[in-house]
Amino acid sequence: MSTAFDHPEYNYKVVRQFAIMTVVWGIVGMAVGVLIAAQLAWPALNFDTPWFSFGRLRPLHTNTVIFAFGGSALFATSYYIVQRTCQTRLFSDTMASFTFWGWQAVIICAAITLPMGLTSTKEYAELEWPIDILIAIVWVTYCVNFIGTIMKRKEKHIYVANWFFAAFMIMVAVLHVGNNIAIPVTMFKSYSAYAGTVDAMVQWWWGHNAVGFFLTAGFLGIMYYFVPKQAERPVYSYRLSIVHFWALISLYVWAGSHHLHYSSLPDWAQTAGMVMSLVLLAPSWGGMINGMMTLSGAWHKLRTDPILRFLVVSLSFYGMSTFEGPMMAIKTVNALSHNTDWTIGHVHSGALGWVAMVSIGAMYHLIPILFGLKPGAMHSTKLINVHFWLATIGTVLYIAAMWVNGIMQGLMWRAVNADGTLTYSFVQSVEASIPGYIVRVIGGALFLTGMLIMAYNVYKTVNRSENAVTAQA
Ligand code: HEM
Ligand code: HEM
Repeated sequence: MSTAFDHPEYNYKVVRQFAIMTVVWGIVGMAVGVLIAAQLAWPALNFDTPWFSFGRLRPLHTNTVIFAFGGSALFATSYYIVQRTCQTRLFSDTMASFTFWGWQAVIICAAITLPMGLTSTKEYAELEWPIDILIAIVWVTYCVNFIGTIMKRKEKHIYVANWFFAAFMIMVAVLHVGNNIAIPVTMFKSYSAYAGTVDAMVQWWWGHNAVGFFLTAGFLGIMYYFVPKQAERPVYSYRLSIVHFWALISLYVWAGSHHLHYSSLPDWAQTAGMVMSLVLLAPSWGGMINGMMTLSGAWHKLRTDPILRFLVVSLSFYGMSTFEGPMMAIKTVNALSHNTDWTIGHVHSGALGWVAMVSIGAMYHLIPILFGLKPGAMHSTKLINVHFWLATIGTVLYIAAMWVNGIMQGLMWRAVNADGTLTYSFVQSVEASIPGYIVRVIGGALFLTGMLIMAYNVYKTVNRSENAVTAQA
């Protein structure tokens, strides 16, 4: 069915659908995040019911924020950018529509099965085999539609953002299928085809590249399009963006073993992961600097443009988390950080500071355009500004609390008395972490409040645009 907002040349419908779902799933995923954060501070909130317990809701949080919120943002922006930069409509509207409904079906299946306790137990790949097959079908359709659009492009050059998106799509397809090869025993139970250490290595080959390709390469595609657009300046160095691309994708795939330091994985493989992680700092910072320098001559815009602030702050957090990551990959540092809240702080400086902020900035840029309004015509710029501050303060509170907790936990666990006994029991370290957990709840709640304000602002913008269309008719 066509609507008043349909673009004569491009398929904006699928972009609109995914953009709206980005906001919806962002709120759901972060609300679950705040709930599980509160459960760690006040365990009574588990309510003594298995399906409401931390253990079952945690994977629901990670799946919703990464794949539903982050995934919808990636689908929306990649479909938009590939059409605009290739000057052509999507390869297939039917395929686009199938990816939208198929992806929503995957998310609904996750939201039902995870609280029921149905899980393959592999982190970020918890969903059971029938859902994995659906994911593979939707994902391959997405790849074909995206690459098909590039192949029918009217513009000779393939803009760098599309390279990042294509790498993200192809790599996620390979990793998803590779990691989820399993032997089904019932409709909802399967066992991995790999065993022992090999299983762990394959899992973290996936897990780390879910970070590298899903949470990084795809969002860099977003950055390379929306930062220049919002700043109204060309990318600082196009040559650097190409070097950034090849260096990043060729290094990320070797770093996964930093998740398995001091495990039964052969020592040389752990060291290789550590070295590759350290080298990864260079392309990551190259990309961050390239994004930042794009603002040369446009810094004054930060005073008045909160969307640009979202994008620039996201780049700062990207720089921060990609400095912290290589440090944590050094084996002696990892001996302190592993299994502590430091890792959780690192995750959320990437997840909230980088992934969520860059997506939010892109959505504020996109939504007026998708609904037939002038660029920048969101209902309220003031509310975008309020959202920006809530998100920034929320992220800082979250990660600062986790740094303090993490380093404290690491030091408490390794403290020994003169006679060789442990100075602290594990429970003492949990008790000492409670204040940090409360600060995290506050930070998370601020971030979530910002998302609710965004939903209101988007609702008012869409409404205004609908009223304008009715008035014209
Ligand atoms: C309101 C915002 C959020 C809150 C309050 C929140 C809270 C939490 C909590 C409490 C945990 C469990 C920590 C633990 O097990 O000790 C967690 C884990 C996680 N969250 Fe969030 N989160 C939020 C947003 C996000 C976003 C936007 C993303 C991704 C884009 C994300 C990705 C993750 C990941 C990947 C983990 C697992 C980390 C690991 O296993 O090391 N979170 N989150
Ligand atoms: C150069 C870039 C990066 C490197 C070298 C790196 C390295 C690391 C290291 C060493 C760990 C701890 C592993 C452990 O002790 O178990 C870790 C955990 C993690 N990082 Fe990064 N990181 C980088 C960037 C990022 C970014 C940008 C994000 C998010 C957008 C991110 C998300 C995560 C997640 C989700 C985990 C937790 C995995 C888990 O245990 O469940 N990382 N990273």
